[in-house]
Amino acid sequence: MSDSVTNDKLAEKRQSVLASGFASGNSCYVASAKSATIVDVEGREYIDFSGGIGVMNVGHSHPRVVQAIREQAERFTHTCFMVLPYEPVVTLADKLCNAAPVPGPASVVFINSGAEAVENAVKIARYHTGRQAILAFNNCFHGRTLLTMSMTSKVKPYKFGFGPFASEIYHVPYAYCYRCPFGLKYPDCGTACADYLNEYFIGNVAPENVAALIVEPVQGEGGFITPPPEYFVKLKKICEENGILFVSDEIQSGMGRTGKMFAIEHWNVKPDMVTAAKSIAAGMPLSAVVAKKNIIDSVHAGGIGGTYGGNPVACAAGLAVMEVFEQENLLERARKLGEKLRVRFEDLQKEYEIIGDVRGKGPMLALELVRDRETKEPAGTEAKALTKYCSENGLILLSCGNFGNVIRTLMPLVITDEELEKGMAILEDGFRHIAGIHP
Ligand SMILES: Cc1ncc(COP(=O)(O)O)c(C=O)c1O
Repeated sequence: MSDSVTNDKLAEKRQSVLASGFASGNSCYVASAKSATIVDVEGREYIDFSGGIGVMNVGHSHPRVVQAIREQAERFTHTCFMVLPYEPVVTLADKLCNAAPVPGPASVVFINSGAEAVENAVKIARYHTGRQAILAFNNCFHGRTLLTMSMTSKVKPYKFGFGPFASEIYHVPYAYCYRCPFGLKYPDCGTACADYLNEYFIGNVAPENVAALIVEPVQGEGGFITPPPEYFVKLKKICEENGILFVSDEIQSGMGRTGKMFAIEHWNVKPDMVTAAKSIAAGMPLSAVVAKKNIIDSVHAGGIGGTYGGNPVACAAGLAVMEVFEQENLLERARKLGEKLRVRFEDLQKEYEIIGDVRGKGPMLALELVRDRETKEPAGTEAKALTKYCSENGLILLSCGNFGNVIRTLMPLVITDEELEKGMAILEDGFRHIAGIHP
């Protein structure tokens, strides 16, 4: 890296050459990254609690992944699987079919981004059922393409000014227990939010017109909202009663993020399809739909896929990721990390009134910040001040939620104790900072 490259110079140049809508949350420019530590172009170190939005579960520049990418790049980088097929796609598909909680024989289609995976899941569901409507949830996020933006719930920044939207998408309330849309309390509520789906069908869309229900088992951008144990069991039953496919969007919650390979496994529900992306290939653009074979094979040849889907370098990285999970017992590490984080977060909650809720599964954990624990007034400005403080002091941290008041953790699952402690120390300083007690 040339000495003349600085964060400020790059920031200035970017203003003239990059679209302002293509924005970044932090002002440092990355020079290198390893495990859960990032170094910027000026040599400053940052602990990474964001993992490039949940992409780096196996850690930055994992040696096995780097080696796999290098070796595959030296062999060949592209032929287009739909023209000339090659082995890594087949082997990775086999591994994903075995890992995914889809019951019975399953098959895979590979594409490039999370949004593309969701789009393909919708296409497959519509083709297979011959129905058009899609059920999505309040607070959900499924992407930025026209269809997935239409399915996404939050208006600003994702939908504002970008209409008209795709049709036949219906949003239903989600099991957001901390802010129950029905004003009820779990468990006395009897998960009325799940039962409500049957009522929703009366006034909004006929169930026999619904192709699929698509759900993030732990809502990512929506605020790491984590439903109670009965919720998905009830939803799945309603789907089965009405011939509706159950699609688990595991783009953020999958690939070990919650301590299970796919988050829906925590609820013991078997989806008809799952979507995977992000951590599937440690940063190489790759996504997948894993679906019951009879469902995905309804689609005619050439109806799904694309030029880059199943790119050989991305699939080699994906295979290395699967190997790292096995060889380093990463699911177990994730569970332990989750337990450790939860204790630390619950301790923080005792100390700081602003932390209204601690929730999530495994290390996919979040803190919802509120100005008052009674009124639950969202503390979005404070969350913004916290992430800014952390960034300026060496910790990359993400917020989420409709009010931007939820702090989430998506750090690499391989984070070392030392990295974790460094990051937690900055986060705690950050809480003192926003509470007005300067560190
Ligand atoms: C649950 C979920 N679905 C879909 C997407 C879209 O993925 P991509 O940005 O790769 O298109 C995301 C991205 O954050 C996501 O979290």
